[in-house]
Amino acid sequence: MPELILLNLRHTDGFLDCMKEYEEKVVNIDKMIREKTGLGNDYLGWFDYPNTIDKNIVFKIKKDAEFVRENFDVLVVCGIGGSYLGARAAIEALGGLKREDKIEIIYMGNTFSPAYTAQILDYLKDKKFAINVVSKSGTTTETAIAFRLLRELLIAQVGEEEAKKAIFATTDKDKGALKELCDKYGYTRYDLPSNVGGRFSVFTPVGLFPIAAAGFDIELFLIGAKRGYYDFDDYHLNDNQAYEYACFRDYMYRKKNKSVELFVQYEPQFCQLNEWLKQLFGESEGKEKKGLLPDSVSFSTDLHSLGQFIQDGSPLLFETILKVDKPLEDVEIPFDKDDLDGLNYLQGKKLSFVNEMAFEGTVKAHADDGKVPCITIYLEKMDEYNLGYLMYFFMKACAMSAYLLDINPFNQPGVEIYKKNMFHLLGKKGY
Ligand code: PA5
Repeated sequence: MPELILLNLRHTDGFLDCMKEYEEKVVNIDKMIREKTGLGNDYLGWFDYPNTIDKNIVFKIKKDAEFVRENFDVLVVCGIGGSYLGARAAIEALGGLKREDKIEIIYMGNTFSPAYTAQILDYLKDKKFAINVVSKSGTTTETAIAFRLLRELLIAQVGEEEAKKAIFATTDKDKGALKELCDKYGYTRYDLPSNVGGRFSVFTPVGLFPIAAAGFDIELFLIGAKRGYYDFDDYHLNDNQAYEYACFRDYMYRKKNKSVELFVQYEPQFCQLNEWLKQLFGESEGKEKKGLLPDSVSFSTDLHSLGQFIQDGSPLLFETILKVDKPLEDVEIPFDKDDLDGLNYLQGKKLSFVNEMAFEGTVKAHADDGKVPCITIYLEKMDEYNLGYLMYFFMKACAMSAYLLDINPFNQPGVEIYKKNMFHLLGKKGY
């Protein structure tokens, strides 16, 4: 069976000639991942999760999600970082930005912003809403504050007993404040296995519940991931596109002195997918003063802002382009009798065609004229199956990529420092 994604390595500045140098390293790291002997190996639970997830959990998630879809106007997903980005990325990538559905999904607990929080609470005042609170640790301050506020509003609206039916929590299987809260008040609880970290958790209930509640087929999503598991299971570099991409990143960083990887897409509905990628790679690799800085743009929009820098500015970046062949929907450009805007040469053409030409023209401009290396990841269409496959591709590539740098991909010691300072300033006990 042909693989679902196609990597175009044509503009990768000599990478193909250097690939051989990576073969042995890749074999060794692959063995390390497989045998769970590398740094952070107790967080490799995501690796075969799509294959091993209990069918009963999927069944329960689907049932609860259907209940939420039937009984509520809004689902508030309350989480931050890996506890919401995967779900949001999937929901927007699959549904687009203006999707009509019987339920609206909104996000809270991902900021301390008083204005945003107040506006969401105000918006929910006359809505029938359910909450999916997601926190592995159960103590993340943004999420905990938002959940306290949401719970208070919900109970004030419907009372303790009805609120119980509207709260769905996803948290660590064995421990944490949120687990205790669920046990005490009898909220529905989904387990996040201890050996899966937040940014690798999209195939667990962390991602599955909100994605199902948004009306998408999580079984297909998991089957796509499972296929990714098999397709990216080969330790031969030439037969494993996830590893090829990881080595390309390493080549850019070490041999070509690039410090920024720019994730590029041509559909604004993939902006959150880029946010997920930025977290996945940034939090996994940015350690010990090493790693590429992941950044992102949405073309053609950002060709009118950052386009100038990319074409002509400091040569510090390369592009990783996601190109999806079939758009979710399409629009035809109409004929105009006056043609004052001079657009009749495009009449009858689809916007997808214009977007495609913008893509081709831009790669040529950036790669040939601007000497910006570009790797393109082609996907036929964005559905649950393809997205599961794609997200698994990036997760596998991320693990290989971090190990190539000799970094533990699965911890994030750097994010604790600001928290300590903030807790001290807030007067939290023990800080
Ligand atoms: O990837 C990660 O581990 C982090 O981004 C966490 O998901 C994020 O900090 C939220 O943590 P928690 O789920 O414990 O609330």
